Parts: sequence; structure tokens; C-alpha cells
Amino acid sequence: CRDQMHIPRPDVFDFEGITMIHYFTDNWEKVQNFQARPNDILIATYPKAGTTWVSYILDLLYFGQQSPERQSSLPIYERVPFLEFAVPVIPPGTELADKLQTSPRLIKTHLPVQLVPKSFWEQNCRVVYVGRNAKDNAVSYFHFDRMNSVQPEPGDWNGYIEKFMAGNTVFGPWYDHVIGWWEKKKSYSNLLYLFFEDLVEDTGRELEHLCSFLGLSTPIEERERIREGVQFDAMKKNPMANYSTIPVMDFKISPFMRKGKVGDWKNHFTVAQNETFDQHYKRWMKDTTLTFRTEL
Ligand code: A3P
Repeated sequence: CRDQMHIPRPDVFDFEGITMIHYFTDNWEKVQNFQARPNDILIATYPKAGTTWVSYILDLLYFGQQSPERQSSLPIYERVPFLEFAVPVIPPGTELADKLQTSPRLIKTHLPVQLVPKSFWEQNCRVVYVGRNAKDNAVSYFHFDRMNSVQPEPGDWNGYIEKFMAGNTVFGPWYDHVIGWWEKKKSYSNLLYLFFEDLVEDTGRELEHLCSFLGLSTPIEERERIREGVQFDAMKKNPMANYSTIPVMDFKISPFMRKGKVGDWKNHFTVAQNETFDQHYKRWMKDTTLTFRTEL
């Protein structure tokens, strides 16, 4: 890991109806006015749903055969800029995106669908959304908040799970996020909705889905090479994919590539917490056709 940089833990506030921190709103004017290009690809997720995994897959699909230097020297957060990121450890996401020389540009966002800059829709950009079941998503977010000083203090797990259920984690309610993007699919056909659980179950099959959505005819041998390169253990060891080069995360508390599993929530939820969570979940999710798997 690089030396840690002192970044003060932010407070949360309400921003356009969702819980936010200033590190994601300080550059808001430029975010909102961001000029997307028709061949940009937007990777959208609720935090900790598999953003880095899918970003790395897309990067390899498009640029894996290019210069070995890119593969060995450019970390994933520079290859795939995080649009709303405005933390002074690296240039703001909009600036990194504007500077990208590659085409297509791959751009990451955690914004709920209603806050996405309108140029992405106007340009009919392709969008890949990744959803992850709420329980594992909450556990992963908890550990991430513990180790990442850009995020607010998470407190203990018991308090955290309440906060998650109340929709007060950064980027707002998981529930509204996954449903909002799911609903968008009805009116916007250039959107592929993937699931973390499907990726774990059969990465090769999901790679095929991605290729057909993106209109790529990546040869089987190359797809197989990518499938191997994006397995959890390979990415965990890869300093260009594992965030070890960014100075705001303390891997001694929890590594970015933590477990990469479906069902780790069982090691965190008490029986009582699980019952409360399930009841609450049913209420929030009662009107949607969207379903998740919490185990494989
Ligand atoms: P865990 O904390 O459950 O391990 P994001 O990139 O959206 O921040 O998501 C991070 C989560 O995705 C972490 O989950 C991380 O371990 C997991 N992840 C990243 N790459 C993965 C891979 N190749 N295989 C499985 N899980 C992966």
C-alpha cells in the first residue's frame, strides 16, 4: 500500500433527496454538465456491488490487447474514472474522463438513476448496471466504510445495518437505487442489468452477455484469458485492480478485495437482525419484479 493520506472523515447531508458526502458533490456543476459521447459506456452500481470487477472486465474486453504498459501501470480508477469523485488525492472524475484518450471511454458512477447527467441519455450511451443482493451489499459496504477515510464513520455493525435499512448510507437507499435502475430498463433499451451473484456463479456466461450487449466478437481464447484474469484471487493480487495504490484506504483494517463471495452476510447478521431485515425488505421491495439471490 502507498502511505496513508490524512483525509478527514466527512459528515453526511441530504442532497437532492439522498444521503451524500461532499466528496461526491463538490464538483457537482461539472458532473451535471458532463458531456457524454455517444460511444461512452457508463458502469453504474450501488457502492460495493461489483463495480471494480465489471470495470476491469470491460477494460480488458476493449483494451486488454493494447500496450502491456497500460496493463502494468494504469490503475483501474484511472482507466475507468469515477464521475462524481472529487477527493484531492487524484484529479476529479470529470477531468479524468475528459482527458481519456481511449475510445470508448468507460465511466463509473454510483449515482441513483435520477441524478445521472442528462447527456448520457441524450447520447444514448450504453449503460451496464450491476446489482448485488442487499445483505451482502450491506456487509461489503460496512467493511469498506471502516477502511476508507473518504467515507463517513460506519460505527458498529448493529448501528450500520439500521442505517442501511433506513436508506442513510452514502448514495441513499440501496432499495431505491436498484429499483430505479431496474425501472429505467423499461424505457431505455441501451441498459444491461447484471447481477453480482450471476458473475460469481458463472463469469464466462456473463462475459458472453456483456459481449453480445456491447456487440463485441471477442474470440473465445481471449474471453477465456479475461475470465481467468478477473477471478477474485487474480484481481486481489493485481495492484492495478486491487486499489492498493490509492492512499485513502487502510488495508490493515479490511482489504478492498475482501472476500468476493455470495452469502458472507451469514457471518454478520444475527438471527433477529435477519428477521427484521427480511420483513423490512419485503415492504420496500413489494412493488417490484426485481429479485436477488442471497445464496448460490
Ligand atoms: P466483498 O467486500 O464482499 O469482498 P465495488 O467494486 O463495487 O466496490 O465492490 C467491491 C466488492 O466486489 C467486494 O466485495 C470485492 O471483494 C468484490 N469483488 C471485486 N472483484 C471481485 C472478483 N473478481 N470476484 C468476486 N468479487 C469481487
